[in-house]
Amino acid sequence: MDKVLDYIRSHHDAYLAELVDLLKIPSISSEKEHKNDMKTAAKHLVGRMKKAGLKGVKVMATGGHPAVYGEWCKAGKDKPTVLVYGHYDVQPVDPLNLWKTPPFEPDVRPSNKVKGTRDLYARGAADDKGQLFIHLLAVEAHLKVNGKLPVNVKFIFEGEEEIGSPNLVPLMKKHRTLLKTDSVVVSDTPMFDYGKPSICYGLRGLAFMELRITGPNSDMHSGTFGGIVANPINVLCDMVARLTDARGRVAIPGFYDDVVKLTAAERKAYAALKVTDTSFKRQLDVRELAGEKGYTAAERQSARPTLDVNGISGGYEGKGAKTVIASKAMAKISMRLVPNQDPKKIARLFTRHVKKIAPRSVRIEVLDLHGGDPAITPLDNPATQAAMRALKTAFGKKVLTTREGGSIPIVADFQKILGAPTVLMGFGVPDENLHAPNEKLHLPNFYTGIEASAHYFTELAG
Ligand code: BES
Ligand code: MN
Ligand code: MN
Repeated sequence: MDKVLDYIRSHHDAYLAELVDLLKIPSISSEKEHKNDMKTAAKHLVGRMKKAGLKGVKVMATGGHPAVYGEWCKAGKDKPTVLVYGHYDVQPVDPLNLWKTPPFEPDVRPSNKVKGTRDLYARGAADDKGQLFIHLLAVEAHLKVNGKLPVNVKFIFEGEEEIGSPNLVPLMKKHRTLLKTDSVVVSDTPMFDYGKPSICYGLRGLAFMELRITGPNSDMHSGTFGGIVANPINVLCDMVARLTDARGRVAIPGFYDDVVKLTAAERKAYAALKVTDTSFKRQLDVRELAGEKGYTAAERQSARPTLDVNGISGGYEGKGAKTVIASKAMAKISMRLVPNQDPKKIARLFTRHVKKIAPRSVRIEVLDLHGGDPAITPLDNPATQAAMRALKTAFGKKVLTTREGGSIPIVADFQKILGAPTVLMGFGVPDENLHAPNEKLHLPNFYTGIEASAHYFTELAG
């Protein structure tokens, strides 16, 4: 292992330069004009995976953006197989004017958190190009130094995670044998904090809805028609306000029916992580936090379900005033879900409820945009235990266990379709600005992450 670590440590500059190349490709999965960039990114990965020494490397066409596959499976049948999953698609970059440097022109700047270290700023730096690259480089280091790996490794990188992975389940079902594995490892979450490595054992699920309201058949003068016709924006605001109650709970009947309650032991574990309201307030620059009464901020962040408006539009949004009653209004609403809530069922409950509370003065349309199951990986499974040892060795720190509020819908499907548990070994940081302007990867985590991944393959072999 020492030689592998030496190899990694002597290649930091090359690794950084190569990651920069990948980050320059604007692979935004949700925007049609980037369709070709998605292909370019997939091809780029194919080239890089071949160079790393992987076999059977190929682009896998899907109904949408392509996935990329590669493997090294010569460790022998008696050795476990691990599937590395990552996503090379990224989120849109708006609002562009808030980026200090352009999102697809990666920039290295000093860390404002850890003196003497550097961060790499770019869209996708942490979510998830930088993190998927970590495992590729670890595999390469093993192969370059030893000509072999301690375990069988398969890679699947997809290009549609940020749009709900609509084509990955069919692909997995079609290629069950190719993707057969004992466990999955995903690096697409943050660490608990700087210098505090962690294994994430829980993700929230998601039901994402769009609510469209139509009032009068045209925008109209708010003086002539104000007071005689329902204003779709007023109605929308009123309906949205009624979706949560004064205690910060979701007010949709049946919403909490399947929620698994936190046990006393879990609440104790949450408390031991010492995430204070003060630290959140400082990070977010707010006077008060908000959310469901009766739970701590840390519990609310990952173990309790939520309902949030993610976007809202209608009427006049330009400069200055315009007296108008809009014909239409729209809101995009996400509900983060916890075990054992079912996104399809929640989407139905939502739809039924908003139809019920909508006044007759407007027409409404409810769209179920996408969803995903929540996931929990038991901490006592051997792959998780191996990951904890690997992180401890690489970072030289006690390894914490956490749950996250975000969603990676495909994780639940790995269990369902491949029958394999997923280890969430994330190398991000809490203030990495994912999905936001100035996304960054803390470079020490990138380099130490590669070592952790290298250790992980060894630990998995047992
Ligand atoms: N990497 C994130 C998931 C994540 C974020 C996990 C923060 C833990 C903490 C992933 O790329 C993501 O953004 N997922 C989406 C899922 C959706 C588009 C289906 C999310 O959580 O909004
Ligand atoms: Mn991600
Ligand atoms: Mn994301």
